Amino acid sequence: MRIILNYILVLLYLTLPLCLGVQPPHIVFTLADDLGWNDLGFHNPAVLTPILDKFANEGVIFNNSYVQPMCTPSRSAFLTGYYPFHTGLQHKVIDYWQANYLQANYTILPQYLKKRGYVTHMVGKWHLGFCNWKYVPTRRGFDTFYGYYQGCEGHFNRTVENGYDFRDNDTVVYANGEYSTKLFADRAIQIIENHDPSTPLFLYLPFQNVHFPVEVPKQYEDMYSNIHDTKRRVYSGMASAMDEAFGNITSALERKGLTNNLLLGFSSDNGGALGFGANNLPLRGGKTTIWEGGTRGISFAHSKTLIKKKGYTHNGLMHAVDWFSTFLEAAGIPQPAGIDGVSQWKMWTDGAPSERLEVVHNIDNIANNSAIRDKQYKLILGDPGPGPWEPLPKLDDTDDDIEISDPLPDTLLYDLIEDPGEHNNLADDLPDVVNRLKARLDYYKSTAIPARYPPNTPAGDPANFGGVWGPGWC
Ligand SMILES: *[C@@H]1O[C@H](CO)[C@@H](O)[C@H](O)[C@H]1NC(C)=O
Ligand SMILES: *[C@@H]1O[C@H](CO)[C@@H](O)[C@H](O)[C@H]1NC(C)=O
Ligand SMILES: *[C@@H]1O[C@H](CO)[C@@H](O)[C@H](O)[C@H]1NC(C)=O
Ligand SMILES: *[C@@H]1O[C@H](CO)[C@@H](O)[C@H](O)[C@H]1NC(C)=O
Ligand SMILES: *[C@@H]1O[C@H](CO)[C@@H](O)[C@H](O)[C@H]1NC(C)=O
Ligand SMILES: *[C@@H]1O[C@H](CO)[C@@H](O)[C@H](O)[C@H]1NC(C)=O
Repeated sequence: MRIILNYILVLLYLTLPLCLGVQPPHIVFTLADDLGWNDLGFHNPAVLTPILDKFANEGVIFNNSYVQPMCTPSRSAFLTGYYPFHTGLQHKVIDYWQANYLQANYTILPQYLKKRGYVTHMVGKWHLGFCNWKYVPTRRGFDTFYGYYQGCEGHFNRTVENGYDFRDNDTVVYANGEYSTKLFADRAIQIIENHDPSTPLFLYLPFQNVHFPVEVPKQYEDMYSNIHDTKRRVYSGMASAMDEAFGNITSALERKGLTNNLLLGFSSDNGGALGFGANNLPLRGGKTTIWEGGTRGISFAHSKTLIKKKGYTHNGLMHAVDWFSTFLEAAGIPQPAGIDGVSQWKMWTDGAPSERLEVVHNIDNIANNSAIRDKQYKLILGDPGPGPWEPLPKLDDTDDDIEISDPLPDTLLYDLIEDPGEHNNLADDLPDVVNRLKARLDYYKSTAIPARYPPNTPAGDPANFGGVWGPGWC
């Protein structure tokens, strides 16, 4: 009886909005690549990103929204709703030469959205595997794909190692000399202009900016003639180019009349890469590390109509997996069983407290490190990675690589409310807190699967595939 009742309720939940003619919202999810905590204007006015600042300030800025320390794990979390230690992608990124991938048995966000009637487009970087056709975006719920499979490439030549990497759906296309951000913005605008507004739109827009190689057209670099450090100057220009692209895309959404039922999400995929022009101050460390500088994502959500409480900063805990769950709830799709994500829809729309009590930063059985935080404390076991507090380059700075040489103890505890910069290790002072959080990590460890990290292989060598990176070697 109970089961039948539940079945009827679920059926009603799924079909009622359709019967009532309530259309699920259009969703545009923008990911910036390697964008540092201190690298948008609303955190650091020296970076000129007026459009992103305006949307952030008129929406909800998320101040404790965690991502993974690197691209592949974060992207897998955003799209599956599972922590990477539940998909085997918790160790580093998929290497250029590695037959690694997000396993095909994980159903990803666009696949769920398609079942709900969405048209789904992806424009930008994939980095979840491509050695077999079954792992590429067009086989995983995206109606169209315009972008590249690998984790990084030249912004103008679309080449990495010895291979070219750029496709329209499955077909290699040569886009001569145009800057990545401009190509992606133009395609996103074309998608928006051709979209039938009576169908819900999902546009996943993982920009290549501001990932290295640090390069940008001159006009954006010239906006920062006051910065003498070349990397920082060009990097800042990359942030401004992305801002302009975001502006062009949001104008297209407005022109098309989609903004009355639109949810915009923006996040970085991991912290800024120190040594490549990024800055995460006042947070410690950067990309690849489980310090705050590697894992706290700069992010916000915006909607003219769906977000009721707006124009403020929310300090509730979130993780990349929650974006998956929140987008599902926004679309009126029930949460799949077993995922790690929790929907933060009420947090986003009404400013309700976060539904999340703790965040597991990682459990990496190859690097032998793991970390967890609750509302106040963060426990790190093993080596979190290099942990400098990166200063902003001074006018005459030439070298931004700073190493902390003191070896760290293998148990670290920080009070992130008092000490978000992770300066004072409290592990010896608060053994009860250490033990409590250790027990939580032990519980999660008992559910983890080992990292999949096969050795590199020449099998995918572009030399065997007409000079391009593409499927056919696993
Ligand atoms: C996918 O398959 C792997 C084994 O290959 C398994 O560990 C994992 O639990 C599966 N996940 C899902 C969501 O089916
Ligand atoms: C990409 O695939 C979609 C869906 O099949 C199709 O409508 C579109 O024309 C394709 N684009 C190209 C350039 O082939
Ligand atoms: C592509 O551009 C990158 C970054 O500027 C450069 O390092 C690389 O040598 C270029 N590759 C080719 C094949 O031109
Ligand atoms: C934004 O649109 C303007 C006007 O069409 C164009 O000149 C500029 O190149 C676009 N910028 C990007 C990054 O797409
Ligand atoms: C992790 O621990 C294993 C087993 O103790 C050891 O072989 C390996 O070298 C360690 N790896 C790192 C990165 O410390
Ligand atoms: C955001 O978080 C930082 C670091 O924890 C904190 O210093 C700052 O006060 C927070 N901002 C707001 C508006 O709460």
